Amino acid sequence: MKDFLQIENLTKSYNKETILNRINCSIAKGEFIVLLGPSGCGKSTLLNCITGLIPFETGTISINGKEMNPISPANRNIAMVFQSYALYPNMNVRKNISFGMEIRKTPKAVIDQKVEQVAELLKIRDHLQKKPAHLSGGQRQRVAIARALVRKPDIFLFDEPLSNLDAKLRVNMRTELKKLHKKLAATIIYVTHDQIEALTLANRIAVMLNGEIVQFDTPNEIYHHPINTFVAKFIGTPVINILPATLVRKDGTWKLKIYPLQKNTAKSSHAADDFITLPIPTYLSEHDKKLEQIVKEHDGKVLLGIRPEAISYATQLPNDAVPATISAEVDVVVPSGADTFIVCRVLGHEITARAHSKAKLATPSSTQTDKTNFITLDIDLNQALLFNSHTENRIL
Ligand SMILES: Nc1ncnc2c1ncn2[C@@H]1O[C@H](COP(=O)(O)OP(=O)(O)O)[C@@H](O)[C@H]1O
Ligand SMILES: [Mg+2]
Repeated sequence: MKDFLQIENLTKSYNKETILNRINCSIAKGEFIVLLGPSGCGKSTLLNCITGLIPFETGTISINGKEMNPISPANRNIAMVFQSYALYPNMNVRKNISFGMEIRKTPKAVIDQKVEQVAELLKIRDHLQKKPAHLSGGQRQRVAIARALVRKPDIFLFDEPLSNLDAKLRVNMRTELKKLHKKLAATIIYVTHDQIEALTLANRIAVMLNGEIVQFDTPNEIYHHPINTFVAKFIGTPVINILPATLVRKDGTWKLKIYPLQKNTAKSSHAADDFITLPIPTYLSEHDKKLEQIVKEHDGKVLLGIRPEAISYATQLPNDAVPATISAEVDVVVPSGADTFIVCRVLGHEITARAHSKAKLATPSSTQTDKTNFITLDIDLNQALLFNSHTENRIL
């Protein structure tokens, strides 16, 4: 069912300040949806509107075709797992998991069977007699998930459930959550401000900013076709390079010019008429009208977005690349496992490029001469994005 959970025109404010602004989204049964956005953008508020724990002014929420607005939180079949785990400290793990079922007067045999089942699934069987205080962070998080699982809810809501765990455990739990989702075919809405978590977990990501969903699409689409520079910069590490550029048409073909960074104070080693010209892939040239409009409205000024992996040092470009070479002055070299990132300067603009970890590169010492710090980088313009320099929305 395509619209298992449907949110229409949801608006919520606190003290006349709009916190959620006309949220619309449809979620299919079995989807793993991640709400991603900076702190304070309204993610937790949206989850709590879905649970029914906080009221909102306008809009409707429906699950399985049934409007939830008049239904109390207790009667919505939704389970929520919080960052703080919210376990009962005086109850052991078994009791923490079974308590809700006891309240609902579930027969003991059924409770025992369900506890066994989820304990097995989440590998906490050996801890059933322990109190939460005697568990590690990861184990506590598993108990919180187990408690949600026994309810067999229509929808699981997770609010930053892994942010209290150390980095390694977080990666493990991410994989486990993914396995769990596959096994149970559960419908999950998962809140995080961590873009890696979003990319690795989600079927679709809703990127939020200032109480609005700015883009709702697959991780791949969001990474490769971000709707604006905010989304482009929020997703991907190291962060995407964004350079001011000017569109020009020369002999019938479009090109991009990059001019030196204008700095009044720092001395520039580049002459004012120094610039780089980059080719534009033919599929971009096909959008002649759009590009002409940019020239007319903004003197051709655009923002060129290009991810570090599309600027390579001593690495072969992909077969379909639209190549260009540039000279860059190395600032620092940042090894990071399989890849090494090179932070460098091109006409004064800082950019990050990627090299293989085996590339012979090191951060230049301050005694080295300028000349030896220059390297040649290969850019694949086929992977370039162009943004409107005023609205910062993606043009192409
Ligand atoms: N009970 C409340 N009263 C007033 N403002 C609130 C309340 N709860 C949240 N807010 C405000 O709403 C905004 C969104 O908060 P929240 O949904 O918690 O953001 P996120 O989970 O994305 O970090 C924040 O500016 C926050 O200060
Ligand atoms: Mg929050």
